Amino acid sequence: MPYAKIEIAPSILASNFAKLGDDVRAVEQGGAEVIHVDVMDGHFVPNISIGVPVVVSLHKATRLPLDVHLMIERPEEYVERFAKAGSSRILIHQEATVHLDRALTLIRESGAQAGVALNPATPVAMLTDVLDKVDTVLVMSVNPGFGGQKFIPGAIEKIRQLNQWRTRYNGAFRIGVDGGVDAENVAELARAGANTFVAGTSIFHTPDPAAAVRNLRKLATEATSQRV
Ligand code: DX5
Ligand code: ZN
Repeated sequence: MPYAKIEIAPSILASNFAKLGDDVRAVEQGGAEVIHVDVMDGHFVPNISIGVPVVVSLHKATRLPLDVHLMIERPEEYVERFAKAGSSRILIHQEATVHLDRALTLIRESGAQAGVALNPATPVAMLTDVLDKVDTVLVMSVNPGFGGQKFIPGAIEKIRQLNQWRTRYNGAFRIGVDGGVDAENVAELARAGANTFVAGTSIFHTPDPAAAVRNLRKLATEATSQRV
């Protein structure tokens, strides 16, 4: 099952935090499957965003699952707090911990699904020994830290490689792509094997975020059904 169900995951980093609830409702109406929450610590990435209290509030404000993308050093120290706050899936960076296996195990023990993210300069080979411990591999198609950056095309080949491995693992993990995802590249990413599409700017910086979600899903679905 190389093309498991498509998920559109709006990244609230690009939303208006003063009316976060409204923005989340808009993408819910567009049929978004998950909400992507970017947590940044000013150390692992050169920016600071939001933390546990916002996840708690979002969890009360939406029924959608929350994918919490931890761009923080030593993520294992925060897994339990983010799980209790209501994260459905916790994504940590391979580059952010020297104990990746332990950290992923901790996430699953916390009751959340485990995800691992890879910076653009990190080869997918870094993950061969943990693929049985992850529910999602998130390929970063920008250097993490900021929304609105230009898509880095090297991500496509990484998605293809992961897609081959996933076939061997009977489709046991999702392949996500995060950064610069838009209506121009979503079809090619879907054909390469991605099935979770994180998008901030191309959804929230438009007049109609719900329509933007529907359009991304339509393009990704059409691209994969042509291929199958
Ligand atoms: C980047 C974040 C992304 C970001 C994507 O560090 O992990 O989730 O919000 O934003 P766009 O879609 O604007 O590139
Ligand atoms: Zn993200």
